[in-house]
Amino acid sequence: MKTLTLRRPDDWHLHLRDGAVLEGVIGDSSRHFARAIIMPNLVPPVVTTADARAYRDRILAALPAGDRFEPLMTLYLTEHTDPRDVEEGRKSGLITAVKLYPAGATTNSHGGVRDLDKAMPVLERMAKIGLPLCVHGEVTTPEVDIFDREAVFIETVLDLLRRRLPELKITMEHVTTADGIDYIKSSKSNLAGSITTHHLIINRNAILVGGIRPHYYCLPVAKRENHRLALRAAATSGDSRFFLGTDSAPHVDPLKECACGCAGIYTSVNTMSCLAHVFEQENALDKLEAFTSLSGPAWYGLKPNEEMITLEKRDQPVDFPSKRDTEAGAITVFDPGFPLYWEAL
Ligand code: NCD
Ligand code: ZN
Repeated sequence: MKTLTLRRPDDWHLHLRDGAVLEGVIGDSSRHFARAIIMPNLVPPVVTTADARAYRDRILAALPAGDRFEPLMTLYLTEHTDPRDVEEGRKSGLITAVKLYPAGATTNSHGGVRDLDKAMPVLERMAKIGLPLCVHGEVTTPEVDIFDREAVFIETVLDLLRRRLPELKITMEHVTTADGIDYIKSSKSNLAGSITTHHLIINRNAILVGGIRPHYYCLPVAKRENHRLALRAAATSGDSRFFLGTDSAPHVDPLKECACGCAGIYTSVNTMSCLAHVFEQENALDKLEAFTSLSGPAWYGLKPNEEMITLEKRDQPVDFPSKRDTEAGAITVFDPGFPLYWEAL
């Protein structure tokens, strides 16, 4: 049997939600992942250090007995965020990053930033204390085509911000385009990118061919095949500027299967199996550990996990549940469209 042993992975972009959904999904992350950067787009969002502390406590209380899992908390940047609160959050060790959602870019982002100038005092403070900014890199201008929003964000927002504040460490989250990959590769410092599991597997046809498939709809939306190939090349290259952020984003089925369905794909259940499959297809199993377990901690200034996990390749496909049942309702699990043979133990 083929086996692969890696340092325990971390997830550098995860939505855990709250209440019954949190309770229903957290075990799917804590089973394999040691740490995760927790997205702050709750309703209402996690905007202050006090909010983040209370949310962290709720996450820890929801953990299955015996699981060890460290939630790395983020703050949702607003035009009113107080630089002193951010600095205190960082100093206390609670806050790992601050998240920029351009207002209206995605699920629960209406309270995000409209005018970046208003957030400059916070961003300057973050640059000074070495606190990374995680960005949802899409413009929200209605005239810009949804498939171009990442490329336009790089040109009209991200590049200007980096020139204005070169000392600020920025994670471009869930990169979905060749433009994003090229931009990160061309930068000399202070820029890295996370890549999701699903964007390595699906292109935009998955959403639209043969009927509209809401469980493949997420933001940033999956792009053309050439972009998927660029993401795969970057993820499997071993380049430490690229690492895993699953963007696993659970929504109960009725919120996905309706006339105006939510964006988000739930991948926590089978992410490690999907990734082993992808890396094997690319003849890059030796680069999987860098992507899931080494490059992310290095970027965030943390040590890699000491503990190891083992992946085994089975002769028969591994049986994953197609849905995760929660007290709030069922959540459809990502279907990669092919059988998975690797199992993370
Ligand atoms: C995320 C969510 O549901 O909160 N949705 C998604 O499609 N990825 C928000 C986000 O990260 O854009
Ligand atoms: Zn997300």
